[in-house]
Amino acid sequence: MSSSQKNPKNLRSQRWYAPDDLRSFGHRSRTKQMGYHREEFIDRPVIGIINTWNEMNSCHTHFPERVKDVKRGVFSAGGFPVELPAISLGEQLMKPTAMMYRNFLSMEVEELLRSYPIDGAVLMGGCDKTTPGILLGAISMNIPCIYVPAGAMLKGHWRDETLGSGTDVWKFWDERRAGNLSEKEWSEIEDGIARSPGTCMTMGTAATMMSMVDSLGMSLPGASSIPAVDSNHNRMASLSGKRVVDLVWEDIKPTDILTEHSFENAIIVQMAIGGSTNGIIHLTALARRTAIKLDLEKFDRVSKSIPLLANIKPSGKYLMEDFYYAGGILALMKMLKEHLNLDTITVNGNSVRQNIEESEVFNKDVIRSINNPVSSVGGTAILHGSLAPNGAVIKPTAAEKRLWNHKGPALVFKDIHDLKSRIDSEDLPVSPDSILVLQNAGPIGAPGMPEWGQLPVPKKLLKQGIRDIIRISDARMSGTSYGACILHVSPESALGGPLALVKDGDIIQLDVERREINLLVKESELEIRKKKWSPPESKATRGYAKLFTKHVNQAHEGCDFDFLQGVPGETPEPEIF
Ligand code: FES
Repeated sequence: MSSSQKNPKNLRSQRWYAPDDLRSFGHRSRTKQMGYHREEFIDRPVIGIINTWNEMNSCHTHFPERVKDVKRGVFSAGGFPVELPAISLGEQLMKPTAMMYRNFLSMEVEELLRSYPIDGAVLMGGCDKTTPGILLGAISMNIPCIYVPAGAMLKGHWRDETLGSGTDVWKFWDERRAGNLSEKEWSEIEDGIARSPGTCMTMGTAATMMSMVDSLGMSLPGASSIPAVDSNHNRMASLSGKRVVDLVWEDIKPTDILTEHSFENAIIVQMAIGGSTNGIIHLTALARRTAIKLDLEKFDRVSKSIPLLANIKPSGKYLMEDFYYAGGILALMKMLKEHLNLDTITVNGNSVRQNIEESEVFNKDVIRSINNPVSSVGGTAILHGSLAPNGAVIKPTAAEKRLWNHKGPALVFKDIHDLKSRIDSEDLPVSPDSILVLQNAGPIGAPGMPEWGQLPVPKKLLKQGIRDIIRISDARMSGTSYGACILHVSPESALGGPLALVKDGDIIQLDVERREINLLVKESELEIRKKKWSPPESKATRGYAKLFTKHVNQAHEGCDFDFLQGVPGETPEPEIF
């Protein structure tokens, strides 16, 4: 913790507002232009509310209302709230992929907080990449801040069935492609699957990231489990606004909260909730921004010792609303108390031990105990081998177990267009033993590493009743997805990694228990192929896409930009002239 306490005279914002000079006269008169009295912003913490809302992000439609709750809290604690809208990364509508803009959001947040007279920040996000995006920027700026998670939407419904975001879409889409679902039924599902504000309500990337940030200690404890439209969510938002003012006075910054131990807690929670594979990339990036190096082996070590406790789709059967009423993240963390670092401090000023003390599990089927887990292994396994020298990821709990140990011939698609044009053709040379390989879908190759990693099961196999098959790519997949998908292969194929050298018919061997993924082709043959290989033509010829492909690092390094690494808070404060 910082030893210093802030007083009104050494607030950052007062560098803009307090001096008796011409420039400060301008700052004060222009703030008054907005109708504020001098007493409202002089000698008070100015709180920037980073609001990732826009009308293309359906998961954040409650933010314009919720920001009022945050402001209420800030005012009640004697702060001065100002809303700072930042780019909203709507997972569904943003193309080629919201992932390409995560680092963009992080830069925007960092520079908003730096360039304006801001003492502390409330970070409002939830839809997949918004959470890591805002937090990455806030860490690099390193001023007191608190995260307000958007919360999950209500459960979906179709006739007498409960529907989970993504997970049930993939399931019913396979049935539609197999000819088992009419247009009317498909349209009814479209009407019922997303019926309130909030994020996907399966344990997708959004719920995973909100839970991980909660377990890192950057939100009020338990905030991540509250459904978006529950009035507890309004109260959490207001209390977060109130608390951030104290954080400013106490001078508690992200680097006081985010330690190696808190990152370890987040990994433990990720494994126990069956969290999205995307969480690995984002957590790696977040840790690196604090100068803590998380390697993939760390995730794997935890995965081997932490069982899956949250019985939530896609790895289990319930949804986030059920999780909340079963006790939520704090009850789950209590189940894990022997494994967690209980003395780590969180933004409410208490330790994890204190935060979980009174929590309880109210539904033992939704939140399982260590002795009665959903699965004895954690949600994610890290693979290495000749096909992925720098690692790859699989979510075994979401794959058919018969495929955990499998050897089969590769069927290669050179890019997403090749995949789309051939996957459903009747003469595709595919069998249930085949291993589908998608190339050029990684951070640089796609670009942006889209969620193309859950390659569709070919129609030919669907008609035979096959619903899972091994698929390998350097892409990601949605956290709501399932199947035997090996993702994040590093180095990616656009850099000439071994994935780029695979040909139809090559034998690939997967052994999840041994954590291996190998291309069974002689090294001498691979060398010949490598000499003939040339990189694909880049589609990123200018603008942000060019900056992205030039500076993004690989999946096992968190897909951050090389120039954003560094010690938090080291960038000099702006000169005020
Ligand atoms: Fe926003 Fe899933 S689309 S969280």
